[in-house]
Amino acid sequence: MSDTPRWRDLIVTLDDHGLNVLADAASVAVASLQRPTSGPRSNLTPRALHELITSLEICPDDGVDLDTVLADLGSMVWAHGVVPSDPACVAHLHPPTLVPAVVTELAIAATNQSMDSWDQAPAATEVELHLMSWLVRLLAMPETGSGVMTSGGTASNVLALTLARSWAAAKIDVDVLKSGLPPAARNWRILCSDQAHFSIQRASAELGLGRDAVIAVATTSTGSMDVTALDDVLERMTRDGLQPIAVVGTAGTTDLGAIDPLAAIAERARRYDAWFHVDAAVAGALLLSNRLRPELSGIELADSATIDFHKLWFQPFNASALVVRDVQRFDLLRVKSNYLDRGDELEGMVNLVGRSLDTSRRFDAAKVTASLRTLGRHALAEMLEQLVDLSQYAGSVIRAHPQLELLAPPASVMCVFDAIGADADDLRSVQQRLLARGEMVLGRTEIKGRAALKLTFMNPLSTSDDVDHLVDMVVRELDAVVGSN
Ligand SMILES: Cc1ncc(COP(=O)(O)O)c(C=O)c1O
Repeated sequence: MSDTPRWRDLIVTLDDHGLNVLADAASVAVASLQRPTSGPRSNLTPRALHELITSLEICPDDGVDLDTVLADLGSMVWAHGVVPSDPACVAHLHPPTLVPAVVTELAIAATNQSMDSWDQAPAATEVELHLMSWLVRLLAMPETGSGVMTSGGTASNVLALTLARSWAAAKIDVDVLKSGLPPAARNWRILCSDQAHFSIQRASAELGLGRDAVIAVATTSTGSMDVTALDDVLERMTRDGLQPIAVVGTAGTTDLGAIDPLAAIAERARRYDAWFHVDAAVAGALLLSNRLRPELSGIELADSATIDFHKLWFQPFNASALVVRDVQRFDLLRVKSNYLDRGDELEGMVNLVGRSLDTSRRFDAAKVTASLRTLGRHALAEMLEQLVDLSQYAGSVIRAHPQLELLAPPASVMCVFDAIGADADDLRSVQQRLLARGEMVLGRTEIKGRAALKLTFMNPLSTSDDVDHLVDMVVRELDAVVGSN
């Protein structure tokens, strides 16, 4: 037996010995990703999976050899996960990831910078700020803009609406973080489309305004906000003495991928002195493509915008950003802390805790920066254009199919459809049977009360042949389900 306790080798150190231990372990972890089966997921039932995973002893009295632990993860967990890079994994906004991001994840974890204060993350703070400045330029916002990384689109939307609420209160000289909601808040409303993400309602609930303070504006047949309906809502609100404190435009709705008319919404928000937030969690990446960028025209007028790197920027979870057009707006959030953000630091030190609802926070900006630098804008644009083209192609195949009905022209990377002569239960059976057999991870949703199936294209390696195959699989399953009724 060695004199050196085993745990000493398991603490990451950045000397030669520590790095060798890490590199050896990393190669074992990579080898454990080899899949024994093909397809988007294994066909284990939920019960079998539960039994398999609960057979793992989480914390034995004496630890298990790391190679064994990693091999077990491979055979028990990774082998039974979903495979976002499989062409039949098309349910959600769940991308395959990029090599530069994945290997940078290892470096992020090994170096463990915490983004709350400069003294825990000096260079990392500068990287995050630099990335945010780049994003401000991509969004064509003024130079006063900046941002902060968050854990996801939900967190970015909550942060945006927290700022919007503080901003509305500040206009009537109320510090809402100190004294709570003023009586006027009873009349505050947040407007978004009826296709906006549910995180807008969640934010309103968390902010003490309640879900009822969110007014859902009707959408057109393509799923984007109807500006005439927005005008009607705003006029009615004025008559009723209600105040729109924020108007949210969605750039890429979750199901239809629809992009709201951002410039028209910006004009209304300005007219009513409301904060204009754009939830571009889904379609923000289109800004990278000269061909697709015009679809987001008006985003540059936003007070804040959500960008989700862990969707169409192919980053591992978690990676999102909230960008604001004026960095000073973050002061609406700042809470002085005795140990992190005292305000008496050396000139130039920025403590990002002042911009975030989190305290300790991962250095996710590193993997995004590594990916952007490695791929470059042209390659990323090509990948996005391929996904948009795939969804258009899927739309044309479905439109031409006698058994299928396209519910809206495909936008962004989604294609939503129904089956003629099938009801909601049939669609559920189709989706669940394909999932149970591990053949396809297909999306299922509801559009304005109508059950629907959904293809979400996130893998630029997929081809039109893959699309044909997916549609064939769905139709074959539909025949089996409807035929057995
Ligand atoms: C439009 C939109 N906004 C926000 C979100 C929430 O993002 P996240 O899952 O990263 O919290 C989603 C998720 O799909 C979305 O589609």
